[in-house]
Amino acid sequence: MGLFHQKVVICLATLGPCLLREVYASSALSRRSMVVHESRTEAPVHYIREGPPHPETLVDFRIALTSMDRSGLEKALYDVSIPGSPLYGKHLSIEEVNSYTSASAHSVTAVTEWLTENGITNLKLESAVHDYLIFSAPVDVANDLFDTEFHSFVHAPSGKRAIRTLQYSIPRDLVSHINVVHPTTSFDLAKPLSISVSYGKRSSEISSLDASCSNTITPQCLQELYDIPTTPATQPSNRIAVPGLIEYWAQYADLQAFLERLRPDMPSNTTFSVETIDGGTNPQGPEYAGYEANLDIQYTVGLATGVNTTFISAGPNNTDGAALGYLDVVEYLYNMTEPPQVMSMSYGFQEWWLTPSQAQQVCDVYMALGARGVSLIFGSGDGGVSGAERNDTCTEFLPAFPGGCPYITSVGGTYSINPELSTNFSSGGFSGYFARPSYQEQAVAPFLENLGNTYAGLFNASGRGFPDIAAQSHNVEIVTGGETVYINGTSCSGPIFASMVALVNDRLIAAGKPVLGFLNPFLYNNTQIFTDITAGLPNAGCGTGGFNATAGWDPITGLGTPNFLKMLEAAGLSNDD
Ligand SMILES: *[C@@H]1O[C@H](CO)[C@@H](O)[C@H](O)[C@H]1NC(C)=O
Ligand SMILES: *[C@@H]1O[C@H](CO)[C@@H](O)[C@H](O)[C@H]1NC(C)=O
Ligand SMILES: *[C@@H]1O[C@H](CO)[C@@H](O)[C@H](O)[C@H]1NC(C)=O
Ligand SMILES: *[C@@H]1O[C@H](CO)[C@@H](O)[C@H](O)[C@H]1NC(C)=O
Ligand SMILES: *[C@@H]1O[C@H](CO)[C@@H](O)[C@H](O)[C@H]1NC(C)=O
Ligand SMILES: *[C@@H]1O[C@H](CO)[C@@H](O)[C@H](O)[C@H]1NC(C)=O
Ligand SMILES: *[C@@H]1O[C@H](CO)[C@@H](O)[C@H](O)[C@H]1NC(C)=O
Ligand SMILES: *[C@@H]1O[C@H](CO)[C@@H](O)[C@H](O)[C@H]1NC(C)=O
Ligand SMILES: *[C@@H]1O[C@H](CO)[C@@H](O)[C@H](O)[C@H]1NC(C)=O
Ligand SMILES: *[C@@H]1O[C@H](CO)[C@@H](O)[C@H](O)[C@H]1NC(C)=O
Repeated sequence: MGLFHQKVVICLATLGPCLLREVYASSALSRRSMVVHESRTEAPVHYIREGPPHPETLVDFRIALTSMDRSGLEKALYDVSIPGSPLYGKHLSIEEVNSYTSASAHSVTAVTEWLTENGITNLKLESAVHDYLIFSAPVDVANDLFDTEFHSFVHAPSGKRAIRTLQYSIPRDLVSHINVVHPTTSFDLAKPLSISVSYGKRSSEISSLDASCSNTITPQCLQELYDIPTTPATQPSNRIAVPGLIEYWAQYADLQAFLERLRPDMPSNTTFSVETIDGGTNPQGPEYAGYEANLDIQYTVGLATGVNTTFISAGPNNTDGAALGYLDVVEYLYNMTEPPQVMSMSYGFQEWWLTPSQAQQVCDVYMALGARGVSLIFGSGDGGVSGAERNDTCTEFLPAFPGGCPYITSVGGTYSINPELSTNFSSGGFSGYFARPSYQEQAVAPFLENLGNTYAGLFNASGRGFPDIAAQSHNVEIVTGGETVYINGTSCSGPIFASMVALVNDRLIAAGKPVLGFLNPFLYNNTQIFTDITAGLPNAGCGTGGFNATAGWDPITGLGTPNFLKMLEAAGLSNDD
């Protein structure tokens, strides 16, 4: 630790007047033993290291403190999510979840002491799902504090700069109190999952629809294929949240054109509401149309007929350190008294782009939201066994995030109908960070047994297997910027399934029953809901052929594609309820 490298005045409320730097020196004599907390060998792809930033550059830090009782919350989550459990459906209030996720007073004190003895005085405690200690410090102070060397990185495609490091340390005696420190080894990451978009004509110029569903997939195709009702939902409290990141904006005019063309049975003025975080906006006009946001909105509003849909636009001012608002969005939902019961998110990235602690931090927020009764549904990714994006040079399979997190539902991709087939980009595999949860043990074990030694060493066979299920992902028709466009990607699959869950929830609410909440124990307990996908393209990647769709669960289509009527039945309802 370098001493006296700059003038720092320490103001501690308990000590009265501000002390001068001598305090700094004396405490530095008892310098703590440091231990590397997180490290990575390289920055995620596209990030280029530029050199040291100016030593006086101020950086805003957030230290995420460890939850008081993480395993208690996990148990509580499973208690309310495993069908047949006495507490099934008794979702937790925000206060109940906070009692697990908050930091202990001891953690707050211990970390605060370390920071103040290093001259950090502008400390603030903030509670989201977890508790954070927030402060700003110049780069040279931070270098000493975390026993590291911060660098300036530039994200080549966007030109955005970030101060980060590839490794940092914390005091050994604080390891059990600190989960992660941001910004350190995390980089802004999120990317939309749609793999490819082919542009068609202005929707008004296309006359006939493809009734066979062999060339295009429309809401009507999906209603027939998965028995999704066209009748409107009835419960005003039932909601779907659709986050929009990185300046993909949802357009009212495109939704209206979409409904006029593809849902003529719905009022074409059916719309969505908008909420913004991190300085987000939702500008209107063809030049602002984003295919990802339009896809996500059109296949929720246009499929979950009558369900209130909220577009949550995350702006540039994210503070989460996970990925461009990725964490802020779910913390925002968590903070609501009545959060939307379903969230559909079609953004993702590679698991290894996060360090294990960062991945855990985000995944634990999903756990907290699940305990509150929110179903979190994500496309699995579009790079086959190479994860969120295609990569032919990888030498190990690259699991996608958040597919490997056990507390979300990951939806892979299919194409064609009669029969539905697995598609090559559908990401699937096994997490390198998260162990296989017991709810999927029975389903995944036979797959691994049949696979034998194939691909041994390329993936961690004790990791959480994903995706959980699959849905259509080719040639999905949307309107964006006034044009009809066809999309391939698991970005399509997520909202389709999310809409089905929301429609089941609607009937559960109407029947006075709890909503489905965290879905996976229910899904793996009711595999009869799914049409097993047993053929199709393998999810090639990393120079291998990838995994095949097989009888039973497989890491390309999961348990298969859903059927609404069977979901209703498994939820204890009949179609007449
Ligand atoms: C959560 O909500 C409370 C009040 O509703 C607000 O004061 C607080 O800033 C919110 N926290 C976050 C992280 O959004
Ligand atoms: C989407 O997939 C179909 C095959 O189902 C293919 O014909 C089409 O070219 C793909 N679209 C794009 C934009 O890649
Ligand atoms: C949508 O939600 C709003 C506010 O929560 C509510 O006032 C409205 O009635 C709901 N609309 C529908 C169609 O359920
Ligand atoms: C939609 O249009 C109908 C009639 O055309 C009208 O009664 C209704 O209020 C409109 N709804 C909205 C949300 O504007
Ligand atoms: C984002 O943050 C910057 C810098 O703090 C601020 O100037 C800007 O107004 C914020 N933008 C929005 C939309 O809140
Ligand atoms: C492909 O994977 C390798 C090995 O994991 C990685 O180093 C490389 O950055 C990846 N390439 C892309 C384009 O993601
Ligand atoms: C899937 O197959 C198509 C057509 O053969 C090919 O163009 C595409 O690159 C493949 N995608 C992946 C992720 O393997
Ligand atoms: C495989 O995953 C398990 C569970 O997540 C983990 O404990 C183990 O260390 C991993 N093994 C390797 C070689 O990464
Ligand atoms: C239901 O799931 C729980 C754990 O998720 C498991 O213990 C139980 O055996 C399952 N029951 C059936 C019938 O699959
Ligand atoms: C996938 O199926 C093909 C064709 O049957 C077979 O050649 C290949 O070995 C299978 N791959 C795996 C990983 O099982």
